[in-house]
Parts: sequence; C-alpha cells; structure tokens
Amino acid sequence: MKVTGTELKIADFSGDVLVVGAYEDGLSPPADQLDTLIGGSITRLVEAGDITGKPNEITSILAPSGFATLRVYVIGLGKKEDLSIRRAYEAAASASVAVSAKKVEKVGFFLDDFWPSEVIEQAIAGSVVGCHGQDIYRKEKKQNPPGEIVWSSATEANLEKGSALANAINLTRSLVNRCPNDIYPATFAEEAAVVAENHDLNIEVWDKAKLTEENCGSLLAVSRASVREPRLVILRYNGGKEGEPPIALVGKGVTFDSGGLSLKPSDSMITMKCDMAGAATVLGAIKAIASWKLPVNVVALCGLVENMVSGDSYKLGDILTSRSGKTIEVLNTDAEGRLVLADVLNVALDEKPSAIVDLATLTGACVVALGTDTAGLMTNEPDWCSEVQQASLATGEKMWELPMYPEFGEQVKSQIADIKNVGDGRWGGAITAAKFLEEFVDGTPWTHIDIAGPAFAEKPKPYCSGGATGFAVRTLLELVRRQTA
Ligand code: BES
Ligand code: ZN
Ligand code: ZN
Repeated sequence: MKVTGTELKIADFSGDVLVVGAYEDGLSPPADQLDTLIGGSITRLVEAGDITGKPNEITSILAPSGFATLRVYVIGLGKKEDLSIRRAYEAAASASVAVSAKKVEKVGFFLDDFWPSEVIEQAIAGSVVGCHGQDIYRKEKKQNPPGEIVWSSATEANLEKGSALANAINLTRSLVNRCPNDIYPATFAEEAAVVAENHDLNIEVWDKAKLTEENCGSLLAVSRASVREPRLVILRYNGGKEGEPPIALVGKGVTFDSGGLSLKPSDSMITMKCDMAGAATVLGAIKAIASWKLPVNVVALCGLVENMVSGDSYKLGDILTSRSGKTIEVLNTDAEGRLVLADVLNVALDEKPSAIVDLATLTGACVVALGTDTAGLMTNEPDWCSEVQQASLATGEKMWELPMYPEFGEQVKSQIADIKNVGDGRWGGAITAAKFLEEFVDGTPWTHIDIAGPAFAEKPKPYCSGGATGFAVRTLLELVRRQTA
C-alpha cells in the first residue's frame, strides 16, 4: 500500500473513494467545495439530519455520474473547537475501516485544509492502521487495504512520519493478533531482530542458557513448564548524545498465559495470546522512535515466556531467587507477569536508565477498576508519571493514575521470603501488583502502565476492527519526543 500526497484541488482528484470531513458545527472547506461539485447532496443530508458530524459517523454518498470519483465518504469530526489528535486519528482510521471493507484501489483523504503537522501526521497513521486487522489467517480476506492512500495538505515529512508511525503500530498489532502457536518467545525474538536490522538498532537476545547464567530465577521459573524456551530481548537505539542515560521501556511478553497450575478457566484463557502486548508495544515504540530519528537514547527490554503446565511446573509455595537477589514466595502461578518483570526490570537497571516505563497486561483488577479503554498508571515518582500522563493527554490514549499508598505494599510482604507474588485478597489487585514491581526498580524513576484493558478489544470499534489495538505506541513515541523539546 502506497501513501502519497497531492497538491490537487478536490475537483481534480480522481479515485475510487473521496473522504471529506464534517464538523458538528459546519462542513470542512474541502467538504464544502465537494458539496458544490456534486450538486449539494452533502448539505441536503445535513439538513435532513443524516449527517451530524458526530465523531466517527460515516455517511456514504454515490457521486453523480460523470464525476471522477465514484463514492464520497463524509466522516464526522465532532465540534471544531474540540478537534484533537485523537479525533483526527480515529476519524481517519474509521474511514479506512469502512474503505477496506470494499475492494478499492485509490482513496483520497481531504479531511480539512488547516490541520497542524502533529494532527495530520497522526491522522495519516490512523488511515493506514484502519486498513489492517485480524485477517492474518483468513484465505478469503474480509479487509482489503487499498493500493494507494492519497492525502491532501500533507508535506513529504508528514507522510513519512505518519506512515512510519502506522507501520510501528501495525507491527505491535500483528504480533498481538498472531496466535500462540505462531508467536512464542523464539519467534518474537526473530521479529525483534528484523526491527533491529531495519532500523540499525543494537540487539542482544538472551536464551535460556544466558538467562540461567544471569540468575534470572524468577523469569525462568515461569517459563519452565513450557517446551518453548524463554528469551530476553534488549534493543538499544542511540539517537541521543553518547553516554547520555537512556530511557528504558520494559514489556511483559507472556506469549501465552494459561495461568500455570493456578489454571485459568477456558473463558479467561481464550484471549491470553494478548499477554505479550507489553513487549509488542515497546518493540513497536522503539521502531517508531528510531524511524522518527528522535535525538534520545532508548533501550527496550522484552521478557518473553510462555506460562504453561507440566510435571515440572513451578508450584504454589515455591520460593524463587530473582536476579536482584530478593526471594519471592509464589502463591499464585497466574500472577506470572510480575515474576517475569522482576528480572527484566533488574536487567534494565544495568543500562543505568534515567527513567523506566514498563507496560504489561498485568491484572484483571485494573480492568475492573478502569474499564476496557483506560490504562492504569502507577509510579514511585509523581513527576515522571505526570510526564507519561501529559503525553497520553496529547495523543488521547486514556491513562489514569492509581494511588500507591504504602498500605498496599504491606500486602506483598511474605512471612518466609522477601516478598510474595500476590496481595492478601482481590481488592486493589492492580496496585498490589505494582507495589511488587516497585521492589525491583531500586528507586529509579519508574512508571508502570497496566494495559490489560485497552491492549486488546474483544469487540470491534468504528476505528479498529477488533483484536489488538496498538494502544500506547503513540504515547510512548510522544513521551520520548517530549524529552527532546
Ligand atoms: N495476564 C493476566 C492479566 C490479564 C487479565 C490480562 C485480563 C488481560 C486481560 C495476568 O497474568 C493474571 O492472570 N493476573 C491475575 C493476578 C491474580 C492471580 C493476582 C488476575 O488478574 O486475576
Ligand atoms: Zn496470569
Ligand atoms: Zn499474564
């Protein structure tokens, strides 16, 4: 699929579909021009109440015969004064979800003439992301990405950045959407090597032998029951000054979470291929950061294991020695993500990062607290957390802070080891999990993002065909971009 720009006026564009924008308080200038060209059908539909301009509303209109383009899609952009990156991204993605349901070759996006670069770049990304979904394994594809997407009012740089961002988000989505017999620690690490090769990143892959040598006893215990051996992937992007401490992005990469001996019921296990979304997100983020050539040093670490059951499973009551030296009492083998992260966070400290962000589909409790669309933020350093939240406000990916009161920390104290891997009951489970992680960052500024809700959509949305959403790639890119401003 090509993404190109055009200087043409809307009257001179020819393609299969034209997408124009309508605000709740008036048509965008290109929609207005088009309306005149096609005999006023858009205004008539506005008057009839069919077109309201509500966010992501799509109205398909057949252009009059003789007009160079067959179909016109009018996409709702909400109120003019509320236009945001999120609105623009979702509107463009919604249009592409609709476009790719048909078989079309060429689509023109004429959403508005006056969007700033940050908005148009994200909209371009949305238009590409929306064309791809869960078709990976279908012989008969339900979604057909058009051959060419053409954007008006976009510079060469806008097109390049928008499509690079889209490719990163789509990498994250496709890794999460791919099934667990296809993506497991070794194959995930191979995909990371492709990213490293394409973007000239330094890569280290630790296999089971190296993880053993490095005393990663906590991660190794989780992976032990699986015939698929674990990996730890470290990717370094050195866009900043030499010797400047990097930002560390750490991801939970449980390529399948059966729960282990604390086995999940089938209904909860079905979507557990998504339990590597944290790792896929940090891989997508470093790909985006490198392709935007941001002048910052970044290291991404992915802890990759499968949580399975066998005669050699790790057990309830086991005490593990983590790489940090701290011992962990295991009271639930389904609280495995934090055991993996305990060791990966410790490896991250070797990179002497200025700050850490970890991403993990860590707890069902976070979904209970915040719903399926909002990620939970937990931190040991309010200023760093607020930077993450500010970045999320700019991209419109919803993130909300949960309190790290010391009382929650009391709950992960163990009678017989340094720490235990679950709290005293279900209540506050997202926070007790974060309190556990906090023990492994050694006071480095750290923010934990629990993406168990938003990483994977069980139902389709107007702007996403369902499944992996690519949530947080845009926010991590924005967070790192802000370090340079
Ligand atoms: N991978 C799950 C969390 C999860 C739940 C991710 C729903 C995505 C959607 C995690 O490993 C888990 O099972 N957590 C347990 C923790 C509990 C045993 C303390 C949970 O949330 O129930
Ligand atoms: Zn689990
Ligand atoms: Zn898990």
